[in-house]
Amino acid sequence: MYSVIFCMTEFSLGMILPSRSALITGITGQDGSTLASLLLDKGYKVFGLRPYASVDDTKNLISILDDIILIDGDVTDTSNLTRILERTKPDEIYNLAAMTHVGVSFSMPEATCNINAQGVVRLLEAMRTVGIDKSARFYQASSSEMFGNAPAPQSEETPFAPCSPYGCSKLYAYWMVRTYRQAYGMHASNGILFNHEGPHRGAEFVTRKVTRALGEFLSGRKEPLPLGNLEARRDWGHAHDYMRGAWMMLQQERADDYVLATGQTRSVREFVNAAFSLAGFALVWEGQGTHEVARDAISGQVMVRVDEALFRPLEIDQLKGDSSKARSILGWEPEISFEAMVEDMVLADAPSLLNKKRYA
Ligand code: GDD
Repeated sequence: MYSVIFCMTEFSLGMILPSRSALITGITGQDGSTLASLLLDKGYKVFGLRPYASVDDTKNLISILDDIILIDGDVTDTSNLTRILERTKPDEIYNLAAMTHVGVSFSMPEATCNINAQGVVRLLEAMRTVGIDKSARFYQASSSEMFGNAPAPQSEETPFAPCSPYGCSKLYAYWMVRTYRQAYGMHASNGILFNHEGPHRGAEFVTRKVTRALGEFLSGRKEPLPLGNLEARRDWGHAHDYMRGAWMMLQQERADDYVLATGQTRSVREFVNAAFSLAGFALVWEGQGTHEVARDAISGQVMVRVDEALFRPLEIDQLKGDSSKARSILGWEPEISFEAMVEDMVLADAPSLLNKKRYA
C-alpha cells in the first residue's frame, strides 16, 4: 500500500496550479488527513507539509495518497517554508503542525514552543516574504487548552488561563495570528477547537487509547488498561465536523476567531463506560483514587486500572465550549453526536463488532 507514496522535495515542485489550492501543515495527523479528504472532495489541489520521519507516517493518508502532494518540510525551518510557499503559492494555508500532546509538553516545553509558537511566526513571516500575505488565507489551529481552568462554558470572550506548556505555546501563536491580522491586514483566523476525535486519532490520546484497548480485549488481551485522571471532563466532538468548521472560517470575507465545540461535557470515566458498553461489557468500578479498577461484571476480568504515573503535573478539570458565534456567523454546528463518535472509533478498532452485533 505504501509503495505509491508521492512525495516531493521542495525543489521538484514545477506543476501548473489549479484555481484553488491549499497547503496543510501537519497533514499526517488526524486533523490534517481529515481536512485533506474534505478539501479534495471540494476540488482543491492539496499540498501537505510532512516533516522528516524515519518511519512511514502516512497511515492516515492511505486512501488519498495518490491525490495529494506531500512535500518534505518543517515549521521549524524558515528558509524551507519560504521556498515551499514560493513554489506552491497556495490560496489557503492550514497550520495544523504541532506537538499536540499536553502531557508530553511538560517534559519537552522548549521543543513544544519551537514548533507550536515559533512555527506560526515562521509561517506568517514566510507568507510576507513571498508576498502572499494579502492573497492567501491562513488558518491557525488554536486550542481550548488555552482556557485552562477558566469557568465553563468557554467562549471567544473568556479570559485565557493556560496551565500547560502546550496551552502557553498555543496562546502565543493565537496572539501572533491576531497581531499579524491587525498589523498587516492578513486574512488570518484562529479556530479555537475543543477536543475532537475519530478513528484517525493518535494512540496516545485518551479516547483512542481506550478504543484500541477495547479492540485488544476482544482479541484476548489480559492486562488491564492503565489510565490517569478519570474525572477530567472534556467537550468531545468528531474531527470531521471540526475540520469542516475550519474550512468554513476561511470562506468568510473577514478573518476572525471562532470557538468550535459541542457544548456538552463528559468525564474520561463516562467515555470508557460508553466505549466498553458498545462491546457488551458492563464495567463495575471498585476502589478509590490510584487503587481504583474497573471489572467486567460478567467475567470479573479487571479491564482498567488507575496509574498515578499518567496524572499530569497540572490538569484542566473541565472544558465545555460555547460555540454560539460559529453557529450564528458561520452557520456551523456539529452533526455527529457523542454516541456516534464513540461508535465510529470503537468499530474502527474492533471491526469484529460489525459482524457480531454485540453492541446495541
Ligand atoms: N492522553 C491521556 N492518556 N489522557 C488521559 C489518560 C491517559 O492515559 N488518562 C486520563 N487522561 C485525561 C487527561 O489527563 C485529560 O484530562 C483527558 O484525559 C484528555 O486527555 P487527551 O486525550 O490527552 O487530550 P487533551 O484534552 O489533553 O488535549 C487534546 O485536546 C486539546 C483541545 O482541548 C489534544 O488534542 C490537544 O492537542 C488539543 O489542543
